Amino acid sequence: MKTLRQYLDETPCEKPLKDLIELIAYQSIPIRDAFIDNQTYAGTENTYGEEQAALDKWADNHLISVLGESGLVQEIASEEQADIVRFPDALGKYAIVMDPLDGSSLIQVNLAVGTIIGIFRGKNALQKGEDLAVAMYMLYGPMTVLTITTGDGVSTFALNSKGIFALLKENIQMPEGKIFGSGGTRNEWLPGHQNFITHCEQKDGKLRYSGSFVADFHQILTYGGIYCYPATQGKTDGKLRLVFEANPIGFIAKQAGGAISDGTRDLLTVVPNKPDHRTPIYVGSKKIVESVESCMRGC
Ligand code: F6P
Repeated sequence: MKTLRQYLDETPCEKPLKDLIELIAYQSIPIRDAFIDNQTYAGTENTYGEEQAALDKWADNHLISVLGESGLVQEIASEEQADIVRFPDALGKYAIVMDPLDGSSLIQVNLAVGTIIGIFRGKNALQKGEDLAVAMYMLYGPMTVLTITTGDGVSTFALNSKGIFALLKENIQMPEGKIFGSGGTRNEWLPGHQNFITHCEQKDGKLRYSGSFVADFHQILTYGGIYCYPATQGKTDGKLRLVFEANPIGFIAKQAGGAISDGTRDLLTVVPNKPDHRTPIYVGSKKIVESVESCMRGC
């Protein structure tokens, strides 16, 4: 059994970065423990006007407090915070982007949800996705799994009965596959996106969409295919966020041989203009993501 720490010791990551990765990964234990007591909505909205689940707030407060106390982090851009949280006295020089609990509408129905994290070297959380040092997510499904890249391939670990992340799969390569799923309601899709979905259906694509980006992506990482949250009528920037969601997941996709696009360009090359920068998202196997761009102009 190779543990997360043993795996990290084989990478060129510096010790404080390895410590930070482990610290974050093992917060999946208290976050998962908090599910039972945080099944309701918090009665508040986040910056995006979305109702916050109690667990959204719990996980956000918990991670900010643990990361602040670590002294390793200068900045945190969290989906649940209107502004960047800063720790100017920290000795460490890392910036975190995070969605503390992605897919939170599924908490009350006990479907898989996750925590998405990106780590940049330096003090600035608003960097291009391609400059991430680390991208990772913890997925709370039947197992708690950690998927991670430190910029040299993608690996997945499972939390075992001793509370240790043990290696499940190394050097994961995303196959070309047939799964597709799209957010937004069909009658609000724009013509280019409609063309693309018709193209997937004509190619015998298999529709799968759970309402949890991290869970849907984890499936695509294994079987191949595409997750889409498009621009829609009235919401031409889509729903998901470049900083907290698209970039860490896109970085993992690219490391596994896949790609991420907004329908016109590689999202990892886009400099965020603000923490809540929204974007249409197409992420998955390389060829199918490439086909989105031509379908936008008519398949
Ligand atoms: O960004 C949050 C999120 O919950 C994603 O995890 C998920 O894929 C999407 O929104 C679901 O949105 P909708 O309910 O509009 O399908």
